[in-house]
Amino acid sequence: MPTFVKFIFKKYVVGYYSTKIDFLYIIYLSYKLPVMIRTKIAGIGMYVPENVVTNNDLLKYMDTSDEWIQERTGIKERRYADRTGETTTTMGVEAAKIAIERAGLTNSDIDFIVFATICPDYYFPGCGVLLQRAMQMKDIGALDVRNQCSGFIYALSVADQFIKTGMYKNILLVASEKHSFGLDFSTRGRNISVIFGDGAGAVVLQPIEDTDNGILSTHLHSDGNNAEILAMYNPGTHANHWMNGQKLADFDDAGVGEMFMSHAMIDNAQNFPNMDGPAVFKVAVEKFPEVILEALNTNGYKTSDLRLLIPHQANLRISQFIQKKLRLSDEQVYNNIQQYGNTTAASIPIALCEAWEKGMIKDGDLVCLAAFGSGFTWASALLRW
Ligand code: ACO
Repeated sequence: MPTFVKFIFKKYVVGYYSTKIDFLYIIYLSYKLPVMIRTKIAGIGMYVPENVVTNNDLLKYMDTSDEWIQERTGIKERRYADRTGETTTTMGVEAAKIAIERAGLTNSDIDFIVFATICPDYYFPGCGVLLQRAMQMKDIGALDVRNQCSGFIYALSVADQFIKTGMYKNILLVASEKHSFGLDFSTRGRNISVIFGDGAGAVVLQPIEDTDNGILSTHLHSDGNNAEILAMYNPGTHANHWMNGQKLADFDDAGVGEMFMSHAMIDNAQNFPNMDGPAVFKVAVEKFPEVILEALNTNGYKTSDLRLLIPHQANLRISQFIQKKLRLSDEQVYNNIQQYGNTTAASIPIALCEAWEKGMIKDGDLVCLAAFGSGFTWASALLRW
């Protein structure tokens, strides 16, 4: 073919059709390419036991005062589960029922369970399968998450990945804690036992085809160097290995198979949680603001864009410190530790549920969840409701 004919063919024939083809191809791709899937909270519920325990009620067990507790922690009262009638799982079930109903679903619609707790009914198996049994769900997967105060956000992040990959459509995420069963209620344990309470929160998570709504991002961190600062070592398999000779448990005379839990361990009150309160405070007030700003910066938002910050309810003083540092208004931070104490993994879904029930969170609002706790672990999640 002569050169000028080739030139004319390319310029006018191929050129014409290629622009058409490009245009059609773009239209084809826009239908063919997957749209952005995000995770939304389709239903939320909470449950706290009926039994209200005031600071003054604790005086019958230990030397403390309402004034000391309120001044240092902000706590006025907390709930304790019925001693034998309620467990971490049964409280989780109550919260889950509400979340499932509010999502407009039934138990059989749930296709995966994530359960966050540090107070499991059994050492193993975890609460996930007990909840599955109690709610008579089909043989769906059940995953237990043990990330202490950050447990809800870690679990939310895991569930978010399952939803975004399309693996599951209706995930039930439950966070529940029955602390009152295992704290030292003598004066020896008062720096910890006055802080914690029992309760549960639950959410149902579903996919949403939307780039601007649902969970925008999650951010997870840990630093195991401080694992023993806030920990319950026993029962465990640590064999006094981690603390360079310092005893985490007394079991020197115990034989093979008796070191997990020994009489000496119990006699010496080593079966309770330990906490260096001032050390926890110092790191918490540094990591909380850091991880909140990480969530905002990742998504191009400022603190003033936030409708509500729901911090893990560790201690009212910690929440107030964060609020001041980030210059948030009273209306932008939700606290309810005054009524429920610190419920570890359950504190965020309980606070989120309560704030939503009070009408403080509306469709389109930007909400940040943030936690810090034992591990240390810390985490945040930014979501548009
Ligand atoms: N009632 C009365 N006195 C108490 C109590 C109590 N319940 N608990 C401790 N005390 C006494 C101590 O024995 C000590 O007395 P002493 O000076 O005669 O020895 C005194 O109060 C001060 O003890 P500290 O442990 O230094 O108390 P602090 O002022 O640090 O307050 C607290 C303790 C509230 C735990 C504080 O350190 C704190 O807020 N830390 C942050 C950790 C936190 O909030 N943890 C919550 C759980 S972890 C989490 O969710 C991240």
